[in-house]
Amino acid sequence: MRIDIITVLPELLRSPFEASILKRAIDKGLVEVHLHNLRDYSTNKHKNVDDYQFGGGAGMVMMIEPIDLCISKLKAEREYDEVIYMTPDGETLNQGMANQMSLLKNIIILCGHYKGVDQRVRDHFITKEISIGDFVLSGGELAAAVVSDAIIRLIPGVLSNETSALTDSFQDNLLSPPIYTRPAEYKGWKVPDVLLSGNFAHIDQWREDKALEHTKNRRPDLLE
Ligand code: ADE
Repeated sequence: MRIDIITVLPELLRSPFEASILKRAIDKGLVEVHLHNLRDYSTNKHKNVDDYQFGGGAGMVMMIEPIDLCISKLKAEREYDEVIYMTPDGETLNQGMANQMSLLKNIIILCGHYKGVDQRVRDHFITKEISIGDFVLSGGELAAAVVSDAIIRLIPGVLSNETSALTDSFQDNLLSPPIYTRPAEYKGWKVPDVLLSGNFAHIDQWREDKALEHTKNRRPDLLE
């Protein structure tokens, strides 16, 4: 899979891809992540990528031309499955969307800034708009990092134990059950006996019950 991220702040997006699981996925060649500085596509001498709103109003708007130049250059090089725009008024990200997107080959992610992008960008270039939740970030970069992480960890071979993504919270619309590691007792606080019993049928049943109970308590909406 290849992810091209278009941003005015590439420095904000470097470190998530230089550590841990995402770095390993890139080093293994399972995913390529390319950052593109939108300013490199500005056509004016000040390297501006934003301008005042028509009709007045506070806040600058990202101009269409640099975005067009960048997206068109990329599209001339390969075909893209989706051109995604990160925006708080997009479709809210969930695990199902991450699962679907992890099957794609090439995607572009455009990070919004200022008030957002000229509507014509959304009308003519964007195929999918994603929000990571009902709050407003100062730009789409951190949201793009969140989406990329959620997708990349699902690509086969990225997680060392492939089944571990299948047992994540949300994969079956349930939250995960509690987990424990050694010591079996700490300051008198004990790990549930069933987990030490070696009876895997009982353990599976216990985990299922706990997952259901936890979901009922915290996220009853997932069970509807
Ligand atoms: N840009 C600003 N806020 C955002 C959000 N919540 N989700 C995606 N992109 C954003």
